[in-house]
Amino acid sequence: MSTIHPVDPAFAAKARIRLDDYERLYAESVKDPETFWAKVGERLDWAKKPTKIKDVSYDPKNLHIRWYEDGTLNVAANCLDRHLAERGDKVAIIFEGDDPNESRKLTYRELHAEVCKFANTLKHLGVTKGDRVAIYLPMIPEAAVAMLACARIGAIHSVVFGGFSPDSLAGRIADSACKAVITADEGVRGGKKIPLKINVDEALKRPGTNSVETVVVVRRTGSAVPMQSPRDRYWHNLMEGQSADCPAEPMEAEHPLFILYTSGSTGKPKGVLHTSGGYLVYTSYTHECVFDLREDDVYWCTADVGWVTGHSYVVYGPLANGATTLMFDGVPNYPDFSRFWQVVDKHKVSLFYTAPTAIRALMREGEAPVKKASRASLRVLGTVGEPINPEAWEWYHRVVGESQRPIVDTWWQTETGGILITPLPGAIATKPGSATKPFFGVKPAIVDASGEVQQGACEGNLLITDSWPGQMRTVYGDHQRFIETYFSAYPGNYFTGDGARRDEDGYYWITGRVDDVINVSGHRIGTAEVESALVSHPKVAEAAVVGCPHEIKGQGIYAYVTLIAGETGSDELKKELVAWVRKEIGPIATPDYIQWAPSLPKTRSGKIMRRILRKIGENQPDQLGDISTLADPSVVKSLVEERLIK
Ligand code: WT7
Repeated sequence: MSTIHPVDPAFAAKARIRLDDYERLYAESVKDPETFWAKVGERLDWAKKPTKIKDVSYDPKNLHIRWYEDGTLNVAANCLDRHLAERGDKVAIIFEGDDPNESRKLTYRELHAEVCKFANTLKHLGVTKGDRVAIYLPMIPEAAVAMLACARIGAIHSVVFGGFSPDSLAGRIADSACKAVITADEGVRGGKKIPLKINVDEALKRPGTNSVETVVVVRRTGSAVPMQSPRDRYWHNLMEGQSADCPAEPMEAEHPLFILYTSGSTGKPKGVLHTSGGYLVYTSYTHECVFDLREDDVYWCTADVGWVTGHSYVVYGPLANGATTLMFDGVPNYPDFSRFWQVVDKHKVSLFYTAPTAIRALMREGEAPVKKASRASLRVLGTVGEPINPEAWEWYHRVVGESQRPIVDTWWQTETGGILITPLPGAIATKPGSATKPFFGVKPAIVDASGEVQQGACEGNLLITDSWPGQMRTVYGDHQRFIETYFSAYPGNYFTGDGARRDEDGYYWITGRVDDVINVSGHRIGTAEVESALVSHPKVAEAAVVGCPHEIKGQGIYAYVTLIAGETGSDELKKELVAWVRKEIGPIATPDYIQWAPSLPKTRSGKIMRRILRKIGENQPDQLGDISTLADPSVVKSLVEERLIK
């Protein structure tokens, strides 16, 4: 039996959506999606109002997803221009730097002017509608300005997380042939500098990146960085003298807004493509409902713009709603573990959205750093990115929320654009560890091993049986991969890659990925990516990577490595391999464990049996299952004996 936290009646009394509203609206939304989403779509300013609301086929032979197809709009105008009359002087972005003494505020009027100037800058650089622009920036307002400026002129942005390596950046630039890269001299996180511009220079030496004509460099730390003429230009020089007048041109609803690369179970990261109208309808509406948004809220989502959460719930959703959104360029433990709560007090944050990994890391430091701040302004607490363990949930609720603030555990994915399964804080009683109920218009289903849809309480793979406006439209440049990855396993349905349980109350409990994707601190890493980084090291013959339990990160990276003949494993070589992977992919892919494997368990046809390696990494050697189909079952014994988690 799980604990239930009922909805606070005082909260519900003032909430946008109560239980009866939820039930009525949900029923309407799945019974007649066209009518429901036509009405919700009215929340945006359309240059041409859409009349065709939904045109979707999940049939792999004719797969297409189109929403608001004949409508036109400009995303930036929806996030900025339309707020000017009523909210021109309202703060749009609060910037809080890594250094607690650094913060600044931009009103909607100021942000609008900056975006127009940068949109004109992009035009001046020859960037036009449909061109791809890579953004490799810290969490500074210029990141939002660059994204919105692209949206204003119809350029497609591809934000790359600043923690990714030059190689990872190069791969992303090459895959979508970006025309420009927007970066900064350096980033600063937890007091440490990140050499962004130098990484860009490295990336642009890699093959396939010569589509890049211009590198725009924001001066963040002011350190001298190599500037290559005429390619490299400083942001501030380019912006000087640009007009703050840049008419927002209407785009088709299905015009691409951005590409965001994410890891899958095989191959290189995929360019997830999101478009304009449906994405903005969905992110703004979920942001308003899930956080019970009010005009005077100060909203803070701690995610980086390099991830989808930063796109949907730092930039687009909140700004489309005319909200005040906080951009934080720091980390939870710098200068100390009280930082989040100091920022909450400093800016009177009322809606706070973070990841379970951060909650667990803070929980370990005890209550004192939390209690140092009043947190009186808080109203709703959110979590996203990975399953939250009930213990962390309860701590978040009791310590951070003083047992008074509702918690929204929001399940979604890069591919879904916005939140799909979540409590609404004034409507749905919560159970710690459960993302609870589907959002409006979302139809989840759970299938058993044979692909049969289950009824009632059950557990299996999680599918979504019909489209919602924020859904990704394709994999950039590879529609076939889109179909194969998401629509082939269970034809007629979107396969999430997650497992889930549904309880007797119809609540969903996400159990985690069922494919070869590891979720490290809420960030997706493909096992194949880490393996290919490892085998590119001259001393490595073979590698197999699995997820393992990790107290703070949720999942850690566990690598089995077979060295080439004549090499022997040492602690030094382990360090070298860790450094190698960090250099190849980035620090987020750092292996937590490397186990030397004289050989790997393989089937007779040569396929690595990951199931076995997963169980060994999870310290469950008595649950290996049938190993009789292995070419050489004896390899398992030594791997079990030498396992690193016991
Ligand atoms: C994967 C998607 C969506 C923004 C951040 C991650 C896991 C996400 C939850 C949650 C349990 C969750 C899933 C999903 N996940 N939120 N509330 N409870 N699991 O986006 O990098 O695309 O990762 O994160 O496994 O498939 P992403």
